[in-house]
Amino acid sequence: MTFDAEALRAEFPALALEQDGRPVVFLDGPGGTQVPQRVIDAVSDYFRLSNANEGGVFATSQRSDAIVTRTRQAVADFYGADSPAEIKFGYNMTTLTFHISRSIAASFQPGDEILLTTLDHEANVSPWQAAARDHGLVVRTVDVKPDDCTLDLADLEAKLSPRTRLVAVGYASNAVGTINPVREIGERAHAVGAWLYVDAVHYAPHGLIDVKAIDADFLVSTAYKWFAPHIGALWGRASVLATLPHYKVRPAHDDFETGTPNLEGVAGVGAAIDYLESVGRRFGSADSSAPTGQADRRRALTAAMTAIRQYELTLAERLISGLEGIPNVRIWGITDRARFAAERAPTISVTIAGVSAHDAAKRLSDQGIFAWDGDFHARALVERLGLLESGGLLRLGILHYNTAAEIDRTLEAMESIAA
Ligand SMILES: Cc1ncc(COP(=O)(O)O)c(C=O)c1O
Repeated sequence: MTFDAEALRAEFPALALEQDGRPVVFLDGPGGTQVPQRVIDAVSDYFRLSNANEGGVFATSQRSDAIVTRTRQAVADFYGADSPAEIKFGYNMTTLTFHISRSIAASFQPGDEILLTTLDHEANVSPWQAAARDHGLVVRTVDVKPDDCTLDLADLEAKLSPRTRLVAVGYASNAVGTINPVREIGERAHAVGAWLYVDAVHYAPHGLIDVKAIDADFLVSTAYKWFAPHIGALWGRASVLATLPHYKVRPAHDDFETGTPNLEGVAGVGAAIDYLESVGRRFGSADSSAPTGQADRRRALTAAMTAIRQYELTLAERLISGLEGIPNVRIWGITDRARFAAERAPTISVTIAGVSAHDAAKRLSDQGIFAWDGDFHARALVERLGLLESGGLLRLGILHYNTAAEIDRTLEAMESIAA
């Protein structure tokens, strides 16, 4: 069945919000998405029916535990992981990364090297820099090619060494939409004996994650970027997790989860994955199904993310084509259509000659079009592009709940701002 964004939009109450009598256009998704009604219901149902701490003998606690167990399996299916035991919930991606980096770095020796990138969000940079300070590790940073905002893979190759123990890389750039060849990067990392740590926060709402296919050792994302509450979820390969020291209290329900989880958030995460599964069942095509033998939910999620990816790319092409026709607008990142399928997320960042990103975002907002401006914590990239002083980028972030009509309305607004 053809992808029907309008039918899906009806499930997201916030998409009905209006400003000055017109529906709001949400292009702020890379900073956090709206949520479907079933996520709102799951969170409020949690409080009405299951609100209790973990491990009790009474009904509310048992219902709460059942929700966590179910959701851990759902996230394992969403990531393509072997086991729910490999999924660790936490406050958000940043906190999870600080937390696990402490365990990871404690297993390294002074003088060991970690490789970071200029394209990454600071949340996949600062924790590793701090760990390096604490443990005497050497940090190297892969450069980016400013012309198309892709990673310089020759530089990556040159900076890998027999002492490299970890490569931390984003799956996709939240600032300019570049999708990195994480599998290839992982192969190179593994060739020198390093682990691959993937920040999938930006990629997760746009494409299928398969931790085994990309052969990562760790992958982390944050559910508020994929239609769920504010809570992070880390996957670690079981055989690697087993080698790491823990920072936990005694007793603890898990080696890597500290304290009481955001249980109502976990309930919402489960509902968000149910939603995505339903998208797959409604709009997935037969040839987008995963090979038989995989769990039914994984098949539906595979179909969902394939359909979402295809739809979002049509909107991205429409937006990029329109923006290319507006004088004074410069698009940062990949614009070659032939590279979109493999290398582009539908996150389009621009600068406008003579108009700061902040002013452009304000003028869009005045017209009911919500978009972020600045560096989005992709600080090193925005610096490398020479855009930090001038206020960074204007980011138009497409999700599957956006429509062609919204893109056209945005283009009209951009024309008048750039004029
Ligand atoms: C690519 C990327 N990585 C990491 C983060 C940090 O996520 P969190 O807010 O869950 O710490 C973000 C948030 O914007 C992001 O876009």
